[in-house]
Amino acid sequence: MGIQITPSILNADLSRLADEVARIPSADWVHVDVMDNHFVPNLTLGLPVIEALSKHATQPLDAHLMIEDADRWAPAYAEAGCGSVTFHAEAAKAPVRLAREIRAQGARASMALKPATAIEPYEALLPELDTVLIMTVEPGFGGQKFLDLCLPKIRTAREMVRKHGVETWLQVDGGVSLETIERCAEAGADVFVAGSAVYSADDPDAMVVALRERAEAVRARP
Ligand code: DX5
Ligand code: ZN
Repeated sequence: MGIQITPSILNADLSRLADEVARIPSADWVHVDVMDNHFVPNLTLGLPVIEALSKHATQPLDAHLMIEDADRWAPAYAEAGCGSVTFHAEAAKAPVRLAREIRAQGARASMALKPATAIEPYEALLPELDTVLIMTVEPGFGGQKFLDLCLPKIRTAREMVRKHGVETWLQVDGGVSLETIERCAEAGADVFVAGSAVYSADDPDAMVVALRERAEAVRARP
């Protein structure tokens, strides 16, 4: 699987979402951060906005649900047509059942881990997951500083994927920039969320291209 870049629209101009998404034609996905003011101390948007946006985005939507009671709400995001639905391990009571429900709706099933959540207890779940999202900041806000302490978890996840012979993608989210993306790629990530790096750039699409090139260069090393 090649390198994929999924810009987060959290730091875009939220009053002009369709236009903002049209500014990143080189992106593989559009990462949409759903926050409920309970799981994280911030409130963003939900299903009605996602449904509206999906009619305008040319790329598939990558919904990152930072919400409580994921078991109840996540399948609806898959049903709404999101290409990938990420629930948090910390918010799911029955992650296996939930991942299966998301897949049954035709979306990729993804599970996210906050910085302090270990991946080892979830090793046996890897075949049930299309993606594991390793948070590299505490979820809740864009523009935070990348946490290097999460890098060993990416390495461990890459080892587990190898060991089990599964195709699970490893996504990183939080503080990913031209400065930090190489470290993530070296550790074994292959899908990169970038919010402020993309939307604070003068040319967001050129930043998507630059981020991809930098991660690919790491891959190309002997
Ligand atoms: C944080 C969100 C991220 C965030 C990324 O809780 O999940 O997707 O928007 O933004 P940056 O790249 O600015 O850290
Ligand atoms: Zn996110």
